[in-house]
Amino acid sequence: MEPLSPERILQTGLGFWASKALLSAVEIELFTELAKHPEDLATLSGRLGLHPRGARDFLDALVSLGFLQRDEAGVYANTPETGVFLDKRKSSYIGGILEMANSRLYPFWGALTAALRTGEQQNEARAGDDMFAKLYADPAKLKEFLRAMSGVSHGANLAIARQFPWSGYKTYVDAGTAQGDLAVQIALANPHLTGTGFDLPEVGPIFEDYVEANGLTGRVDFQGGSFFTDPLPKADVVLYGHILHDWDLEQKKHLLRAAWEALPAGGAVVVYDAIIDDNRSQNAFGLLMSLNMLVETSGGFDYTGADCQVWMRGAGFRETRVEHLVGPDSMVIGIK
Ligand SMILES: C[S@@+](CC[C@H](N)C(=O)[O-])C[C@H]1O[C@@H](n2cnc3c(N)ncnc32)[C@H](O)[C@@H]1O
Repeated sequence: MEPLSPERILQTGLGFWASKALLSAVEIELFTELAKHPEDLATLSGRLGLHPRGARDFLDALVSLGFLQRDEAGVYANTPETGVFLDKRKSSYIGGILEMANSRLYPFWGALTAALRTGEQQNEARAGDDMFAKLYADPAKLKEFLRAMSGVSHGANLAIARQFPWSGYKTYVDAGTAQGDLAVQIALANPHLTGTGFDLPEVGPIFEDYVEANGLTGRVDFQGGSFFTDPLPKADVVLYGHILHDWDLEQKKHLLRAAWEALPAGGAVVVYDAIIDDNRSQNAFGLLMSLNMLVETSGGFDYTGADCQVWMRGAGFRETRVEHLVGPDSMVIGIK
């Protein structure tokens, strides 16, 4: 038997060091700066306003973590990944989620113990508030949140656009669409489909800009409303991306019934989240996401594929199945 080692405990216990170094690098736009051209320590420190005491260690820590490269002359450059995904000027930028992690989630998670003791959210909203109403009262936070969603969802959105059997359907509605990346990726990959993004009215202008930037105006439209008080637009497929986990059990069931009502016979609901494995022991990201919902929402929680299929059957769906997408994300499909 291998001798016991404390290494994993220490790695996770101090994991916030590496996390915060990356988040600060995104905050000061280090990767965007280096995407213009590689730079040495003095030039980079000058451009980004870094004090000499920490600059070298900060940059070399990012080299050692695999987020920067440094050549023999001491010139720093992005790695292939950071150059593609963390350069703000590229459409492949996914740093929105890291910007939000830095400005909101990092401080809120400092109060995780209080959330565990009280069961109450620890963000801008007070216990029992709808976090979206609070967040969307501030236009800068609204925009940051919606862009963050595209960053965290893009890989799964591409997978759904390719993997779901779209040839059997003509229309879809992405409910709780945010900036609209799922609605956009489905339309780009499936020219025979037309789609609607449904979300709170404040989201409309940001959605429409994104659709226009992707050349889809006219094929993908926006409908404003609340999925708790308004019916969903009718469509052959209703999608809920990272929606069910925001809400408590009764609200989750309401959302599935609302989808059932919007669909024709044979229509499909597609629910995707970081679905937890049925044994609740493998998908650490999904389980931690559920704790993120504890910190962020008044009643939200993540769930297993088995849980979701039971709720779908309760809402009237006759066939259900779970399919893995990418990383921690899976989709649960229900056929009416
Ligand atoms: C966690 S985000 C998910 C965004 C996107 N589907 C994704 O997967 O990246 C939740 C979304 O639900 C929307 N939302 C919140 N309350 C809503 C309501 N009552 N009716 C419609 N949409 C709502 C929010 O505006 C936000 O865009």
